[in-house]
Amino acid sequence: MPDNPQNVTSIIAAPPSAGAKKTFYLETFGCQMNVHDSEKVIGTLLRQGYRQVETVEEADLVFYNTCSIRDKAEQKVFNRLNDYKKFQKQGKKFAVLGCVAQQEGEKIFEKAPYVSLVAGSASYNNLPQMLVQLEAGNTRITGLDDRQTDLTFETEFTARTNPHRGYITIIEGCDKFCAYCVVPYTRGKERSRTSDSVLAEARKMADLGYTDIQLLGQNVNAFADPLGKKTFAELLYAVGELPGIRRVRFTTSHPRHFSRDIIEAIDALPTLCDHVHLPVQSGSSRVLNAMHREYTREMYLEKVSWIKASKRQIALTTDLIVGFPGETPADFEETITLMHECQFDAVFGFKYSPRPNTPAITMEDSIPDEEKARRLQILLDRQREIQRVNYEKQVGKIFEVMVEGFNEARGQVNGRTSQNVTLNFTALPQHTPSIGSYVTARVIKSFPNSLVGEMVVQG
Ligand code: 5AD
Ligand code: SF4
Repeated sequence: MPDNPQNVTSIIAAPPSAGAKKTFYLETFGCQMNVHDSEKVIGTLLRQGYRQVETVEEADLVFYNTCSIRDKAEQKVFNRLNDYKKFQKQGKKFAVLGCVAQQEGEKIFEKAPYVSLVAGSASYNNLPQMLVQLEAGNTRITGLDDRQTDLTFETEFTARTNPHRGYITIIEGCDKFCAYCVVPYTRGKERSRTSDSVLAEARKMADLGYTDIQLLGQNVNAFADPLGKKTFAELLYAVGELPGIRRVRFTTSHPRHFSRDIIEAIDALPTLCDHVHLPVQSGSSRVLNAMHREYTREMYLEKVSWIKASKRQIALTTDLIVGFPGETPADFEETITLMHECQFDAVFGFKYSPRPNTPAITMEDSIPDEEKARRLQILLDRQREIQRVNYEKQVGKIFEVMVEGFNEARGQVNGRTSQNVTLNFTALPQHTPSIGSYVTARVIKSFPNSLVGEMVVQG
């Protein structure tokens, strides 16, 4: 799934090392990569003897893991840092991590002088040393290694909070330089972990009782094993075949690297989830070219035809941008027709937002915001209708769901299908399934974004 910069994710690692005196608070914005980076940062901090707390007030050290993908994100970060200003007299220290840290660099010290540490994700390997400097009283510590590093951020001390489902990064950074996108500048060049180290981590998680693993990468299917032992599809097989693993997802796939063997793997191995997130961005080959996506509408549709031809019911989701510089009404119409052709199971639509350093920043942001908003609304309305019709077709079908939680008020159990669809269901009498377990449910009702069902005993 794509990011959601509006969402703050609170990751509280339990149990904290109770005796530790130094405390930290960490707040995360943005995509799953950021959320998972925070899990690794938390693990590193706990390892260094810090204790995690739930409020800024209680913390000696405040970390803010930022996202800069869209919408004047930098400004939001500075506004937030401004809120923190009142705490500076209490001797708290502040650290800005993530994409805004990498993008704005030392400018952050100028605008928010009470910040002592600014580090982008490509330098998290050096966090232990940076913490030593912080404790020594250094107030201008930077970790701004962007495209230099060949290293990935790996640690045995990842503080995962969900005991059933967990992320594993397999590739970091991006070398695609899409014209609108800030990621290649904030997350550095593409670098893959070895398949051996990914598998060792997955095995360890399976031993701990994890059943659901999500492989992460900005371009997950550009994975290139540095030792050349496994292709991406072979890695999927290897993780999916580990004893105890019941679900493997991977995100985000780039259409350019989306090869047939990925679908063949899903077809062959039931533990690989019936879901592909394949951002297309636009339905117009002309706009795709201007975006430097390096595929055409037709090439994308060909890959979609492989997915649709699968023996499995593979859900297809995408990201779309409206109002890219020069997008004409006819281009936009092509995006709408593409949506209908692909019958996406979910669409994440965004208004184009000019980003610093990107090639598109030099193009005129020619579409007024009201027009972008209008196009986005049309797109979302059309997609809602597509989903309404398609979700309705699921009524009567039986799905395996992983139990995620409970809605006491509605008397429902919240679950997720292999297709990544939310299925809320009523449990069998005397049989409330536990979180993390897998049960089957029959769909009895549908909404455009979720299904409602009842638990059944699979005979
Ligand atoms: N403006 C709007 N949307 C963007 N995305 C990335 N950069 C921008 C931008 N400058 C969207 C893309 C990407 C998703 C994560 O965010 O659709 O797939
Ligand atoms: Fe950004 Fe394009 Fe890289 Fe995706 S592939 S992270 S959109 S530059």
